[in-house]
Amino acid sequence: MRIIVVPDKEAMGKRAADLVQAEMEKHANPVIGLATGSTPLPLYQELVRRHKEEGLDFSTTITFNLDEYVGLTPDHDQSYRYFMDQNLFNHLNIVKKNTHVPDGLAEDIEAFCEEYESMIDDCGGIDMQVLGIGSNGHIGFNEPGSSLGSLTRIKTLTDETINDNARFFDKREDVPTLAITMGIGTILHARKCILLASGANKAAAIKAACEGPVTAMCPASILQIHRYETLIVTEDAATELTIRVER
Ligand code: GLP
Repeated sequence: MRIIVVPDKEAMGKRAADLVQAEMEKHANPVIGLATGSTPLPLYQELVRRHKEEGLDFSTTITFNLDEYVGLTPDHDQSYRYFMDQNLFNHLNIVKKNTHVPDGLAEDIEAFCEEYESMIDDCGGIDMQVLGIGSNGHIGFNEPGSSLGSLTRIKTLTDETINDNARFFDKREDVPTLAITMGIGTILHARKCILLASGANKAAAIKAACEGPVTAMCPASILQIHRYETLIVTEDAATELTIRVER
């Protein structure tokens, strides 16, 4: 694991954008896996800036998002499709049909999940997957206890995740309890992964992911066996690390 510690969120966004841009420039049709949550926002702001000010071209980029709540319409302001449109896609020259977010309204969720895996395969697999991390160590919506080989499927959210995400909804009861998420196996298939973390509330999860045992109880710990995994972590999220890091 390569661990890069940066002073703040802005620096995290820039370092991550450097890696994403370098990956995009290597492929005629780059396939980038994307995440939601507050953590990747500085990355998305930086990609939008590079597109607008430096002409970074997204016209041939294909994206796959990690996850989506079950039951929210794409125009619901807390759906991940809405989040991605508002915070990234609407500001780029990306072709909308090349942006994939799991369909939380799919009638046959199991069939949809199989189709999502096939769509990723048909595009040649994910070149670079961007990840955040939940305070309980989840990646995507792969909660503690998720099978380390899992593929895209439906998951029940833990109380901890519902509590964490309740801040975005009017009431806690409005937070969906189910989500479709790429599996841990899906994430491991990505040729490169970059995990971003900021804030003191992520320090314990970052410690467990980097220095703890590889265990389903901390899904992010599986990244220890990934062939190319870079963490970009702000100082306050790195306070519990004892291993050597880059600065
Ligand atoms: C959600 C998402 C995850 C994300 C996590 C952390 O649960 N499904 O992909 O990593 O939140 O969110 P935040 O970045 O807002 O802390």
